[in-house]
Amino acid sequence: MGNDTPLGFPTRRDFVRTAIASAGLLAAGGVRVLGAPRPPPPGTRNPLNIPPIVSPSNFDLSAAPATVPLGGGKYSSALAYNTLFPGPTFLASTGNTASVTLTNGLSEGTTVHWHGMVVPRAADGHPQDLVAPGGNYLYQFPIIQRACLNWYHPHPHMMTGEQVNLGLAGAFIVRDPEETGLGLPSGAREVPLIIRDANFDKSGNLIYNPKTTGFVGQYSLVNGTLDPTLSVDTALYRFRVLNGSNARIFRLALSSGAPFHLIGNDGGLLASSVSVSPIELSPAERLDLLVDFRGLPVGTKVMLQCLDAGWNLLEFNVAQQVTDTSSIPTTLSTITPLSNPVTTRVFSFDGMSKINGLRYDINRIDFQVPIHQTERWRFTTNGNAPHPVHVHGASFQVQSRSGGRGTVFPWERGWKDTVLLQDFETVEVFIRFDGYTGLYLIHCHKLEHEDMGMMSNFEVV
Ligand code: C2O
Ligand code: CU
Ligand code: CU
Repeated sequence: MGNDTPLGFPTRRDFVRTAIASAGLLAAGGVRVLGAPRPPPPGTRNPLNIPPIVSPSNFDLSAAPATVPLGGGKYSSALAYNTLFPGPTFLASTGNTASVTLTNGLSEGTTVHWHGMVVPRAADGHPQDLVAPGGNYLYQFPIIQRACLNWYHPHPHMMTGEQVNLGLAGAFIVRDPEETGLGLPSGAREVPLIIRDANFDKSGNLIYNPKTTGFVGQYSLVNGTLDPTLSVDTALYRFRVLNGSNARIFRLALSSGAPFHLIGNDGGLLASSVSVSPIELSPAERLDLLVDFRGLPVGTKVMLQCLDAGWNLLEFNVAQQVTDTSSIPTTLSTITPLSNPVTTRVFSFDGMSKINGLRYDINRIDFQVPIHQTERWRFTTNGNAPHPVHVHGASFQVQSRSGGRGTVFPWERGWKDTVLLQDFETVEVFIRFDGYTGLYLIHCHKLEHEDMGMMSNFEVV
């Protein structure tokens, strides 16, 4: 088994330079599958790309076609933030202010949505606030939430799936004193992992070729690298994991059989750490994982795997013996439970393009939510799952899941902004908007469902 390497990738000399061409292939449809899945020959894995870390204060962000390295001398056309795939990792602390100016170098409109960040409506990247080709937009917001891993990606009307799939996404890490006080692994031992699937045309360029049911990629990428490897010390590591796929769910496990030490998810730290494996991660969900490589002989290779796809996503190569006396904290944070919801709203995720029987209308506001009011939101579906349900403007706490998988998983505790709704499931969450009044969105984060209309505008009042 193992992840498949596309054959016939172009070298830097002969690739097609513009991602416009790649975007154009969307209309052409059919993909050519490049060879049967096969593991890379021994010793040919590519060093994992780690995007540069930047501050979001007065940062210039461009979205434009670019040529990006995938590892092993292979290059692809892409749509990229600041020519990087994934984009730079923003790092800031609670209380800082982000001011990021987007320059749209694409041939179509785009916006930047700060997924998981509680921001004013004007900074939320709502499709109404489309930035035209050649245009600029200042996203300015104070960081008013606790430490967590969020991410940023486009959110234009009906074009989100294409733009994200062709490369526009990056991580946004927030720190706070509580998290810093835990002394978690840092520096080279804190590694963001943006995991996604991808397809390539016969020239080896990224291609967005969704099926009617959603995008299914034949290959996996971690931080934009094909068949990646990461050299690690015999030490404790912290992995900040994002499922950046349009539609694919990963079932993550380590080939060593060791469990993950789960310490956080979408909205930051859990109350306490828990050892768990495998972990199911749907599009846009995040994990904060500690992995212990202590006690493993130098030369050991451990794979981060997706058990569903049968993929080796990332190889950890135990390369250096060190002494690491850090411990895995049991108690992490205090999660104050939301309670006593004053109202219940029901959201039925219908077919592949509707919520409560309505297809998204960019100008229609479907409901209003009073600020500072705790509510119960009930998500249901009759089929066509997965529906990773995502809400802008606030995090929520998952209360229950009935039908289907019938339980709330350890990685769904604490604060979430995206929760997986499978067929025949009902998931209830408590939510309260404490940030801002204004226009926000609830939608399915299977991006093909979102683009087809499984999205709704609401107003916090
Ligand atoms: Cu990550 Cu409205 O999306
Ligand atoms: Cu979001
Ligand atoms: Cu959906």
